[in-house]
Amino acid sequence: RCSVVIMAGGSGERFWPYSRKEKPKQFLPVAGEGTLLQQAVRRARLLVPWSNIYIVTGCQYLGLVREQVPDLPPENLLVEPVGRDTAPCIALAASLLKARDPGTVMVVLPSDHMILDEKRFAEAIRDAVAVAKETKGLVTIGIRPTRPETGYGYIHVGPISRVEMGRALRVRKFTEKPDLETAMAFLASGEYLWNSGMFVWEVRAIQDALERYLPELACGMRPIAEAVGTASFDAVLAGHFPRLPRISIDYGVMEKADNVWAVPGDFGWDDLGTWTALERVAGKDADGNLVQGQAVLVDTRETIIRSDSGKLVVTFGLKDTLVVETPDVLLVADKKRAQDLKAVLNELRRQG
Ligand code: GDD
Ligand code: MG
Repeated sequence: RCSVVIMAGGSGERFWPYSRKEKPKQFLPVAGEGTLLQQAVRRARLLVPWSNIYIVTGCQYLGLVREQVPDLPPENLLVEPVGRDTAPCIALAASLLKARDPGTVMVVLPSDHMILDEKRFAEAIRDAVAVAKETKGLVTIGIRPTRPETGYGYIHVGPISRVEMGRALRVRKFTEKPDLETAMAFLASGEYLWNSGMFVWEVRAIQDALERYLPELACGMRPIAEAVGTASFDAVLAGHFPRLPRISIDYGVMEKADNVWAVPGDFGWDDLGTWTALERVAGKDADGNLVQGQAVLVDTRETIIRSDSGKLVVTFGLKDTLVVETPDVLLVADKKRAQDLKAVLNELRRQG
């Protein structure tokens, strides 16, 4: 028996200007069929019935979730008054499940991923559910790293051999978002997996871990947990949730816990963290260009073009460039610097 909790309240800044504060990437059709959130829900449906699917999002995204996932039972939509990152999001979902279905195994899924092989994904989650029950530990799905990505968590599991795929590995150490030098060393050692950001645990196990490693959060959650199912729930949530510490589950719990397990998964996974990630999942033409929308390319190579404004984009003599055309913003950037798009946003904010 398990419940799937989909986290859908992040702001997805690196996909700017396609992804905006008002409509972050999980609500957009980035690649594949439907929006990323709809794809996450479809995968959840492979695992459990509608009654066991929960979505946690911010109040500003309530309309988008209802519109994109009309079949979600209304009582399974959890709305945060303000986003406090993933630890409070998970704590909130755990409190609700504790009241409704305390024995359930909680499967926590992000809403901003691309997965190519859904069948193998479902198998990996089922393996992880079994491991969570058996070990009473915190289980994550680990992905074999292919590049020194600094935007992910790394899990040290020791030498990884092929036969171990699918079997649970004890996690020796969890390191969230290392610097480039460290990420390169991790990759070279062959002893690390990426944290996919998908977690599986019993409600009891995550609540114990939150008590132990984030006592301030656990304590702040108590009045909210006590109000679950009562008429005053919304008011208590609005009063207490914004005061919870802002921290991700990775820094707050996974880096500190000593009962972490990884189930290696191999199902064509991508976080779609930046524009260049699209090249790994969407088709490119013979010149290495990736085009979404209306465009005519002349003498153009290795360029990403996305146009949503209806305007025809024409390029001539470009290489390694990123062109994103939206109704109100046109971004033209060096593709190699797509990782650093946050710097552009910071500069824009500074200039007001
Ligand atoms: N409800 C809610 N509230 N959801 C949130 C919030 C919040 O405050 N903050 C983030 N989320 C959602 C995002 O929408 C996303 O689906 C998921 O939680 C993960 O958050 P990200 O902000 O995208 O995390 P990340 O990508 O930097 O890092 C995590 O994922 C990586 C893999 O994609 C970590 O778990 C890393 O260790 C991991 O490698
Ligand atoms: Mg992410």
